[in-house]
Amino acid sequence: MESAEIRRRWLRFFEERGHTVVPSASLIADDPTLLLVPAGMVPFKPYFLGEVKPPFPRATSVQKCVRTPDIEEVGKTTRHGTFFQMCGNFSFGDYFKEGAIKYAWELLTTPVADGGYGLEPEKLWITVYLDDDEAERIWRDVIGVPAQRIQRLGKKENYWSMGVPGPCGPCSEINYDRGPEFGIEGGPAVNDERYVEIWNLVFMQYERGAGEGKEDFPILGDLPSQNIDTGLGLERLAMILQGVQNMYETDTLRVVIDKATELTGVRYGAAQNSDVALRVVADHMRTSTMLIGDGVTPGNEGRGYVLRRIMRRAIRNMRLLGATGPVVAELLDVVIRTMGQQYPELLTDRQRIETVALAEEAAFLKALKGGTNILDTAVTETKAAGGTVLAGDKAFLLHDTWGFPIDLTLEMAAEQGLSVDEDGFRRLMKEQRERAKADAKAKKTGHADLSAYREVADTSGATDFTGYTLTEGESTVVGLLVDGVPSPAASEGDEVEVVLDRTPFYAEGGGQLADQGRIKLDTGAVIEVRDVQKPVPGVHVHKGVVQVGEVTVGASAFATIDVRRRRAIARAHSATHLTHQALRDALGPTAAQAGSENSPGRFRFDFGSPAAVPGSVLTDVEQRINEVLSHELEVQAEVMSLEEAKKAGAIAEFGEKYGERVRVVTIGDFSKELCGGTHVANTAQLGLVKLLGESSIGSGVRRVEALVGADAYNFLAKEHTVVAQLTELVKGRPEELPEKISGMLAKLKDAEKEIERYRAEKVLQAAAGLAEGARDVHGIALAIGRVPDGTGADDLRKLVLDVRGRIQGGRAAVVALFTVVNGRPLTVIATNEAARERGLKAGDLVRTAAKTLGGGGGGKPDVAQGGGQNADALDEAMAAVERLVAEAA
Ligand code: ALA
Repeated sequence: MESAEIRRRWLRFFEERGHTVVPSASLIADDPTLLLVPAGMVPFKPYFLGEVKPPFPRATSVQKCVRTPDIEEVGKTTRHGTFFQMCGNFSFGDYFKEGAIKYAWELLTTPVADGGYGLEPEKLWITVYLDDDEAERIWRDVIGVPAQRIQRLGKKENYWSMGVPGPCGPCSEINYDRGPEFGIEGGPAVNDERYVEIWNLVFMQYERGAGEGKEDFPILGDLPSQNIDTGLGLERLAMILQGVQNMYETDTLRVVIDKATELTGVRYGAAQNSDVALRVVADHMRTSTMLIGDGVTPGNEGRGYVLRRIMRRAIRNMRLLGATGPVVAELLDVVIRTMGQQYPELLTDRQRIETVALAEEAAFLKALKGGTNILDTAVTETKAAGGTVLAGDKAFLLHDTWGFPIDLTLEMAAEQGLSVDEDGFRRLMKEQRERAKADAKAKKTGHADLSAYREVADTSGATDFTGYTLTEGESTVVGLLVDGVPSPAASEGDEVEVVLDRTPFYAEGGGQLADQGRIKLDTGAVIEVRDVQKPVPGVHVHKGVVQVGEVTVGASAFATIDVRRRRAIARAHSATHLTHQALRDALGPTAAQAGSENSPGRFRFDFGSPAAVPGSVLTDVEQRINEVLSHELEVQAEVMSLEEAKKAGAIAEFGEKYGERVRVVTIGDFSKELCGGTHVANTAQLGLVKLLGESSIGSGVRRVEALVGADAYNFLAKEHTVVAQLTELVKGRPEELPEKISGMLAKLKDAEKEIERYRAEKVLQAAAGLAEGARDVHGIALAIGRVPDGTGADDLRKLVLDVRGRIQGGRAAVVALFTVVNGRPLTVIATNEAARERGLKAGDLVRTAAKTLGGGGGGKPDVAQGGGQNADALDEAMAAVERLVAEAA
């Protein structure tokens, strides 16, 4: 069975059982705790946690997933892929253990001809969690799985969570016995290569807290309801249904292996090593394509790094197989053509995907070339000195500067007869990791090494910030860094960091973005300032580029900020305070600030809330904000002691630390907040605030995004145009739109139903004619023929059974109908009891017909279904069936 068919059957099965079909979400997870989507349940997490009310009680999906912790296993085992598709069915407080188990069993064991996957029940082994007596009882007593094929396993195997705080629960896995050639018996508890896990049913009912790994975490309590989350690995089932040895040989990956063998001339099956490399190429190229397709670009951090690592491994393995030039274009082409059938966006975005992938290949090939020169020199030196071991620091250098993975260095050194000091290499790697860790800690402030800034601060003291009242002013250059190093001077084109004794430039902080602008020196130099940070408290560091002239420490300066930008940011910041207060008024003090960003014309505001904020509340909040700003409230700032501020009822930003003296920003009698930012003078300056909606950004934290002033106006004006277009289209007033459109949708649905009924009727009308037209072949009634192209398998089946029912008089009857769907021939054949007594089995007839059609099929003696590739052979296939009938007669 093709992968695409596995997917179709999955969705159809669950859709027929009341599940809403939800399309795969992007691999880029909309969840701050995840880099990439590792499981089908990710898009549904808020429903499990009760943060959002599920719009449907049941759902089903086939979700794109990427997991990389087992990347080293890829190609070596039979079933580890970095990209895979997880088929899932989900219940949100609807059915629970028994429902999930029954569905899983039904779909797996229903014969192929009847829409299932046709697995033999005796080959299925079940695992349940240690104390899950209920699940075991259902498997044993309701389904009838013998007790000896049900095993209990611990938390590591049979308890599922996302690895981070969130929903979790015990699970039950269904495993398939691939037979003795894959190892010893004893069930999945003993051998997971032979008894391969195909489907995991998670009984999602608890919430877990923080902790290490798969086993060590506390259970915080029950979820609001008992839910079901399941995951069946599409590639694993394909491996079984396609009768291949491993997932890399299934239909959608095998084509990539074939392309790689064509490009390298290495035959698949020639040797263990090259087979592993070919499988790595197939898996990794597919994953890279899917990641780029979803908008990831190669980089050195986060998702970008995952992609870079995977892509470089693919390219390197191609070189190990003997490829010398670029290979990505051709491999990519195969992946896009194959996967594009299920994910058409790959086809439409082909050009973008190619551009990104080819650029990364070019960069890596360049690195390989540079690294190879270094390696060759090191090898020559080592040999000249009579050595046989390449030093660890050389391997480290190759890794660090040229991105050479150690196994590539090992391989290339071995080709020249040398081994590598791997221990030395690993020691250096460890040292580097520790350095990086220390750096990362320091980097929270945006700077790895702060000593240079401290030096400046020590000699010149804190910067005098004049920007609360001024937008420009005179000052002196007291510190200068070029490329992060203190320098006495800088010249045109240099990236500089400049410290002034006083400045009107606001440094990013408290959620407010930095000012931009210019600094002119009396030396004639001009610095374009793009960002301003405070790497050590009190010191404003202006980052920018020297446009013209020479910058020297001690020069007199005139600093000017971009006033339009500052005003737009100030409007956003004042609007944030109004929003904060209005949300607190509406939701209570739990709606405390958890973060914010104020940028020109827009802001986002994060706050605590156990659940989504209903649309009606947001509308009220927005209305209140706009009402308040039209009251022309004055905005004032005052510096006072923390004690006084508290007494005055000012709200303090969550998690921030304050000194003894604090600044309090007051907006009329509406809001009072500790804040170091810059604001408008009067709320009337805001003009208009438009909230764009809210979303979850983590457990218990919500985010609103909003536009202010002209940006808000432009947004509303655009929406107004859309509404005008719609009213024009449906010929109604704006307020009638919802009713009119839902009326149209309802009509459309009725019309679709009507069409469906006509189609079914038409098919059945054909039945009478076909039954009458049945020929007599020595006492056997044979109704055989071709029905119009495009008749689906289900309709064809209905028709065949109907025709069989119409052949009366106790005669032996064989009904064999053929059609062509999307260029592919399809047949359904049925026999009645009298025919079967004469040895005519539908399954046999279908096998013969399907073989002629260049395909396969099968089913039960009474009705069977099959298909093939070659529609031109239809007449021949019909003749073959007739011959068999004639022989039996
Ligand atoms: N969420 C479960 C898994 O990923 C089904 O295995």
